[in-house]
Amino acid sequence: MSVVSLLGELSGVGASRAGGYERLAWTTADAECREWFAQSAAARGLDVEIDRNGNLWAWLHPSLPGKALVIGSHLDSVPRGGGFDGPLGIASAFAALDALAALAGSGPSRPVAVVNFADEEGSRFGVACAGSRLLTGSLGAETARALVDAEGTTMAEAMAAAGLSPQGLGADAGRLARIGEYLELHVEQGHLATSAGHDGLTRDQPLGLATEIWPHGRWRVDIPGQQNHAGTTRLADRRDPMLGLADVIRGVREAAQNAGVLGTVGKVRVSPGAVNAIPGSVSAWIDARGGSEAAVRSALAELESSVGLDLVEESWTPATRFDADFAGRIAAAVGADLPLLPSGAGHDAGVLALAGIPTAMILVRNPSGISHAPEEYAEDADCERGVVALAAAISELTDWTRTP
Ligand code: GLV
Ligand code: MN
Ligand code: MN
Repeated sequence: MSVVSLLGELSGVGASRAGGYERLAWTTADAECREWFAQSAAARGLDVEIDRNGNLWAWLHPSLPGKALVIGSHLDSVPRGGGFDGPLGIASAFAALDALAALAGSGPSRPVAVVNFADEEGSRFGVACAGSRLLTGSLGAETARALVDAEGTTMAEAMAAAGLSPQGLGADAGRLARIGEYLELHVEQGHLATSAGHDGLTRDQPLGLATEIWPHGRWRVDIPGQQNHAGTTRLADRRDPMLGLADVIRGVREAAQNAGVLGTVGKVRVSPGAVNAIPGSVSAWIDARGGSEAAVRSALAELESSVGLDLVEESWTPATRFDADFAGRIAAAVGADLPLLPSGAGHDAGVLALAGIPTAMILVRNPSGISHAPEEYAEDADCERGVVALAAAISELTDWTRTP
């Protein structure tokens, strides 16, 4: 089946009336995506299993000797996210296997698996790539179970409601040892400079390879105040945390600018959140990323001293370089001069790379330059080119032309 048709099958799932998709982890929409994954895999004769951390695996020839080539991505989204970030990687994986299956009398010489990593975006519980981090052990089971969403539901409760056993969460060395390499195809997410000096893939080729993921993290800042009546409290008597929030938002921008990094305040919680009450407290979440850890850390230090508030680190991912030899093998298999790009976005591929697994990412150009938003986009023809590239890479890496 074509990748465009496969993406079309998901187009109604979690579609937001305001545009984009709401497929937050362990919600009904996420469950529908996961069901689609299981059915699509079963229809292809793949063996579907769920691991102890809620990641879904679809195996082709699991009993062949050797470590598996794993391909895939994720199906959850940020609030009002685009339709490509995640689903393109999984739809491409199925489409590439379909294309290879059409080569009668052939098959891989070792196992191949398509994976749907759980809770990649971390939009609901705050920690991105929760499924892959649990798998590698870089997120502890106890910490994960206790993460809470905006309604106070814990990750453990949400997973249990989705039919999983949260007691089983935790590092899975046996499964990790079965992964030979991980290859993720992903929509390009912005126009960072390519190795050739261009901004993104738009003016270059339709496909590229990611070389690295910038160091990135998430921090929370809690700003106390005194809840009080908006109509009866003199301005001079107020302890209004919204003024502190304004300082934080400005401070993030200035500190990021000074350090040459990216800094974002994309989520705030105002308590109690009434028009006619001065808030009692505000929490804000800061996302900071950049070309070096030192630069990111210096921005945060400047922010802390300028606003006089403590930042609580909720997650941190160091700089991650993808395996150059593995990328070279993929470029050779694809047979094109693929531009090399850094990724400002985090991915499960980065988590696996940090766990020592040879990992690569094929990027498909996004002419809108917009991601984590409804405008995220890839041309049908570019998605098909991505599938052709992925199929070529799978074929080369697994000696597909040999009869199994
Ligand atoms: C995930 O897409 C992230 O970069 O936060
Ligand atoms: Mn993604
Ligand atoms: Mn994303």
